[in-house]
Amino acid sequence: MRAPGKKRGRRIAPPTISARLSGHITLDAQADGSIAAWFDGHSVGLGKFSAGAVNSAQDLRTGLPLSSFASDSRALDKEIDLLVRRLARRGLLEYRLGHLRDDKDQVVVEPQLPDYWPQTPKLGDADVIVLSRFAYLRRRGNEMVLESPRAGALFKICDPKIATAIAMLSTPQKISRFRRQHGFPGVELLALLVDCQILFKIDAASGDGLRATEGDDNLVLWDFHDLLFHTHSTEGRQANPLGGLYPYAGVIPPPPAVRPRWPGKKIELAAPSQTISPIAKLLRERHSTRDFDDQQPITLAELSRFLDSTARIHSKWKSRVDLGGGSPAVTYAARPYPSGGSAYELELYLAVANCEGLARGFYHYDADLHALVPIGVRTHELQALWTAAEFAMDAPAAPQILITIAARFGRVSWKYSSIAYSLILKDVGGLMQTLYLMVTEMGLGGCAIGTTNIDLFAKMTGIEFHVEGPVGQFAIGRGRKPEASD
Ligand SMILES: Cc1cc2nc3c(=O)[nH]c(=O)nc-3n(C[C@H](O)[C@H](O)[C@H](O)COP(=O)(O)O)c2cc1C
Repeated sequence: MRAPGKKRGRRIAPPTISARLSGHITLDAQADGSIAAWFDGHSVGLGKFSAGAVNSAQDLRTGLPLSSFASDSRALDKEIDLLVRRLARRGLLEYRLGHLRDDKDQVVVEPQLPDYWPQTPKLGDADVIVLSRFAYLRRRGNEMVLESPRAGALFKICDPKIATAIAMLSTPQKISRFRRQHGFPGVELLALLVDCQILFKIDAASGDGLRATEGDDNLVLWDFHDLLFHTHSTEGRQANPLGGLYPYAGVIPPPPAVRPRWPGKKIELAAPSQTISPIAKLLRERHSTRDFDDQQPITLAELSRFLDSTARIHSKWKSRVDLGGGSPAVTYAARPYPSGGSAYELELYLAVANCEGLARGFYHYDADLHALVPIGVRTHELQALWTAAEFAMDAPAAPQILITIAARFGRVSWKYSSIAYSLILKDVGGLMQTLYLMVTEMGLGGCAIGTTNIDLFAKMTGIEFHVEGPVGQFAIGRGRKPEASD
């Protein structure tokens, strides 16, 4: 008689990653096989598909496992893959992690970048993983979300046990040991989080020593709140709508233009004298111009004078900082506008659409040499930059020159803790006023622009978004003269 074998516990199938339509999206298929996605009364055409693909597309409401069409050996799989990727690129999909037979989601992955696609890099039992110092869990409505300014997606955590397991990852965990923990969330989720840089692998031998770098030396220079502020106050790395959306209209009355007076006795100030100084005149004349005269564009000579007066380096020096242990030498390069700590971290990039004597294209202004250096970029990226500026200004056409003000973040955060990003934005304000005053003085037109796309700039320049990136924009050109009224 055989001895009874050891009773094995039932293996629980790993959760599956499925693609599904975001809540507000519906798919509409026509008799000829064309499929369109509908949201908020708008439709987006996705192309023509076979009857089989149209049928399978219906499963995108509840979720189509990515593995079910990943092989792309069958024609139908290829079609579904194409449809799903088209939906993904337009930001119309989310991804569900859960068991196929269970309609309860464990985690829902919401893409924040247009080219996000769930990836599950291989994780072995010997790997040691830990949470990024940029990752955070927060309440959103009645939900718990896990986010990071570095991540291409956010993770809605639907099961509190998973939130507990994630909290344990604040200290490094070896996968083999972590597996045995109650509430282990499964290696699939961990791999998705590693791909999004919410978790990262550390070299077990080096321990915690290098955690500030997270595999990238440029991250050492960022405080958590600064990187979060940068990615959430700009376009490109987050999916939330932003800008003049009046989110509180109907909730709170609009705050008044002028502050309610303080009570008490007022000290009347004398009226200014009749003769107005040139700078006061310039300040009064300064205004925003959004409509440019493309028949008489700004000239290269004017652009050269404008950059020389506003942004050119006029002196350089070196100074040592005495930090007790060492005295690193810091170089300085002063320019016409003020800059916190004399950091002068701002760089000007010019998207030239219409300038007499200068070819269309993208240029960096070398403030030291007073020269323009062309940067090769794709036409559609340049066009996207102009289109966004046109939209932001509600202008009839693209500006003749669109200046992107980019910051070399590390130049400020190397010295300043906690206030680095806010100093950079204040520097942008100082520079913007300088640009406004100079276009006024030269009889040109200009307009500050409050939105920038940090992902687009990263794609155009090949520089990572946290190394050097846009913090402001300014449009210049020759303003169109208002038509004389009869
Ligand atoms: C930080 C900042 C951001 C701005 N963003 C925009 C913008 O995105 N679009 C726009 O048309 N004007 C923008 N402006 C221009 C303001 O709308 C303008 O300065 C304001 O209406 C006052 O008008 P004025 O400049 O003609 O005196 C911005 C100005 C500043 C200072």
